[in-house]
Amino acid sequence: MDKLLLRGGRIIDPSQNIDSEMDLLIEGGKIAALGKDIYRSGVDSPKTSLADFKIIDLQGMVVAPGLIDMHTHLREPGFEYRETIRTGSEAASHGGFTSVACMPNTRPVNDNRSVTEFIIRRAAECNLINVYPIAAISRGSEGVTLTEFMDLKDAGAVAFSDDGKPVTNSALMRRALEYASSLDMPIISHCEDVGLSAGGTINEGLVSTELGLAGIPAMAEDVMVARDILISEFTGTVLHIAHVSTAGAVRLIRDARARGVKVTAETAPHYFSLTDEAAKEFDTNAKVYPPLRSMEDVMAIKEGLRDGAIAAIASDHAPHAITDKEVEFEYAASGIAGLETALALSLKLVTDGILTLNQLIEKMSTNPARILHLAKGTLRVGADADITVVDPEKVWTVDPQGLRSKGKNSPFLGWTLKGKAILTIVGGEIKHQ
Ligand code: DOR
Ligand code: ZN
Repeated sequence: MDKLLLRGGRIIDPSQNIDSEMDLLIEGGKIAALGKDIYRSGVDSPKTSLADFKIIDLQGMVVAPGLIDMHTHLREPGFEYRETIRTGSEAASHGGFTSVACMPNTRPVNDNRSVTEFIIRRAAECNLINVYPIAAISRGSEGVTLTEFMDLKDAGAVAFSDDGKPVTNSALMRRALEYASSLDMPIISHCEDVGLSAGGTINEGLVSTELGLAGIPAMAEDVMVARDILISEFTGTVLHIAHVSTAGAVRLIRDARARGVKVTAETAPHYFSLTDEAAKEFDTNAKVYPPLRSMEDVMAIKEGLRDGAIAAIASDHAPHAITDKEVEFEYAASGIAGLETALALSLKLVTDGILTLNQLIEKMSTNPARILHLAKGTLRVGADADITVVDPEKVWTVDPQGLRSKGKNSPFLGWTLKGKAILTIVGGEIKHQ
């Protein structure tokens, strides 16, 4: 059926300042109307009867613009044993995401238009969610030569990043920022001073000392965030900082924004839900880069989310195979599969009074759309009908069998969480229910 009426849900759309119990009508893949008791059969539109619609009653549910994950690793091409565009799209849809932007650290690296086009084509065949490729800043993400930004933009890339690795050469970062801004494209920076992080597998602190593991100091992130802010301030161009994990980075970003530097930032749910204590039993599912930090860092991340220093929450979904993780801590791959737990972990910020539901949706939909220049993240009439319906009260347990992702590498397995996407609609079509 072409027409879908979502009736009686709590519609929250930060892009229009709406938070109200209303109906929402979808027609032809677009949002057709929004209002109280629209289409009371035979009253408002005598020619239309309710029989013309598929109707879903959503009393007590939250109806939001489709969630957008601006930092996902889909692993295809090259690492299909970890995830494919199809399984990643299924996981996204199951987690309430209607769009994801995928990082280029595939094999081959997404550093040329044939890879970008391949990802777009595969995603279209899967026909589950919108997939926006992020192309590499440098060839092979090796930090030496810039990729063909114009060609990659033309092929459909929405941003540039060497995520997984920092751009260590400051001159290359400067050129990347200048060139990207001339194309109105964001640079997403993985901030790591590799000299300071070298050899480390966990946050440098009490836990690393107790476990006898080499630590990664918070400074390894802070130093690079400071450098990138300085370069962005010099060039006057936009910069987005990926996966912020430290109190120092939050402070640097907040201060820079106050000075007018065009810097935005994201964090991931594990950075406000866990500390380095999670790795205490040498649990490789808690191994991630940047590493889980101290309680002071967790508090600072929450404060940064609250005061707006951090604009977005992204999953940094990094699926790995069991064989990547069931090895000694030093040798284990880093990363957390996060697409299916991101929403519930983030809703805890609302329960805890750190964010309003409106602010949370801003950080998981409206702001990522704005940063990536996507015509998404809104329930405006005429917009694509990408919608996430959330049952905020649904209590569920994270069970590896229940995850659609191939990656079961989560430190949240066995956790009982509250809040779940019950309906994911993309372009007016129900993709998950
Ligand atoms: O833990 C991580 N995993 N951090 C990164 O930066 C990359 C990611 C991956 O691709 O597995
Ligand atoms: Zn990443």
